[in-house]
Amino acid sequence: MTSSKLRWYSQPSLARGAVEARKIFSDSDFATLKSKVKSLIEAKVGKEIPNLCDYHCLVDDKTHQTLFGSKLSRVFSERDARDIVKLDSIQGFLEDLGDYKLTDVKLPTGRFEGRPEVYFRVVRPSKSSDVGQLHADVWFDKLLNIDYEGKRAFKTWTLLWGDSSNPGLQFFQFDEDLLGKYVVVVDSQGNKAFNSLINTRPAVNLNMNEGDSFLFDHLTLHQGISHRSVTRVSVEIDFCPKGYR
Ligand SMILES: [Fe+2]
Repeated sequence: MTSSKLRWYSQPSLARGAVEARKIFSDSDFATLKSKVKSLIEAKVGKEIPNLCDYHCLVDDKTHQTLFGSKLSRVFSERDARDIVKLDSIQGFLEDLGDYKLTDVKLPTGRFEGRPEVYFRVVRPSKSSDVGQLHADVWFDKLLNIDYEGKRAFKTWTLLWGDSSNPGLQFFQFDEDLLGKYVVVVDSQGNKAFNSLINTRPAVNLNMNEGDSFLFDHLTLHQGISHRSVTRVSVEIDFCPKGYR
């Protein structure tokens, strides 16, 4: 947990069962964020999509995979990311955090030095391939040899468009000691052992309204849930301790 006024969720707080979204964007900053993501998606798709909840009706599967299948295709450009960072809501948030800054973009192929990590995700109804499978973000850090030396990195996950009557994220109640044992086996056959173990643990589903954000640290086990009714669009912003990237 952070010593700042703002707190985020981590495995111990999830183990206590209560999860709650909060608002970190003012109404006008949220409108700016939505409009930025809408323009990015429409520019790539090459047509207007008045309500992004209807995206799946207007974009075929092949086009979607080509346009948004990789994280790289969903990462904000440096200029767009810096526009978001400049928003009063993010500046105030950073001020409250004190010892934190935006993380440099993390991709399976490496990092973008000095480019803040802001990216969106488009999840169509009943398309499990569009959501992130069960993981803790620290697993990817390990693959990229990123080490915060015991300090916590965390992220904000914000719902831009979606169906608030269905959960968008699912978490699992684990204590950190147990999690630590399995974190080291990322992407090896050990991952299977982890998945069978997790089936015995209680899941926590999180329903969110548009404009809500959820903050959780890089040790938190989570996965996305595909809605049945509408396309969901979310945006993630990653933060790390100052002095790291
Ligand atoms: Fe994640």
